[in-house]
Amino acid sequence: MTISGNARVAGVAGWPIAHSLSPALHAYWIAEHKLDAAYVPLAIKPDDFPSAFPALRKLGFRGLNVTLPHKEAAFALVDSHDEAARATGAVNTVVFEDGRTLGRNTDVFGFTQTLRDGGIVSLQDMTVVVLGAGGASRAIITALLLLGAAQVILVNRTVEKTHTLVSAFGARVVASPWDSLPECLPKARLLVNTTSLGMAGQAALEIDLAPMPKGAAVVDIVYRPLVTPLLAQAKARGLAAIDGLGMLLHQAQPGFAAWFGVEPLVTAELRAHLVGLMKAQG
Ligand code: ATR
Repeated sequence: MTISGNARVAGVAGWPIAHSLSPALHAYWIAEHKLDAAYVPLAIKPDDFPSAFPALRKLGFRGLNVTLPHKEAAFALVDSHDEAARATGAVNTVVFEDGRTLGRNTDVFGFTQTLRDGGIVSLQDMTVVVLGAGGASRAIITALLLLGAAQVILVNRTVEKTHTLVSAFGARVVASPWDSLPECLPKARLLVNTTSLGMAGQAALEIDLAPMPKGAAVVDIVYRPLVTPLLAQAKARGLAAIDGLGMLLHQAQPGFAAWFGVEPLVTAELRAHLVGLMKAQG
């Protein structure tokens, strides 16, 4: 691939950034559409982010993705926010446009789309159990409420962290202690793991899915490994299992479209390409 002096440039800012799949994902779409464009990893230390961020605009970047630990810092630095960014207090996609800096949160869209791929288009009158109360949890709760969930039961190891979320989201979100899971699961249409448990190198998420009703689904936002022990158990029990790669791929679509002017697709080929890369990385 070659680029010209006119190439549109975007990137992903994080710390660390070495394991991000985003550069490979965007490179795939850039090649697929034969664009004069580049998307680069930007390793930016937390202390440097406030000065590096406006510099990227001055350097002519079209925009960027923002990942851990900068999403809240980016929220504070942009000129305007879309609705999802306001709801989550976090920005993962930035568009530099006409001297202004727009902050978006496309994790909400990404999660909604991955549910749609899994056949879930509405959660009207349904109960969902969400594990974890970090940044990812906020985006996911936002999406669940937009899909009409009647109740979101938020379960987190540290109960204090659920209080902020419960007061931010209102009556449809309730907190419940970790050891109440066996009583919560029988009413759950959907269980979503937003914690880091089950990720390669982390402890497994040890939950017995036996109480979940027939026809329920389990989503794990962890994508390394693609099939976490939680998803393996869900499959073994005949429940629908949705992995974390879909959310990653879909959250990337709006940024790519805004910076490079092409609506990219999430296809089986793209998934296979990234799964192959993850395997090669070990
Ligand atoms: P993110 O922004 O990606 O959601 P985070 O803010 O670090 O990441 O949140 C990580 C989540 O994983 C938290 O809900 C955390 O629970 P605590 O609030 O109790 O820390 C959860 N988590 C991490 N390790 C855990 C463990 N060993 N057992 C239970 N929950 C764990």
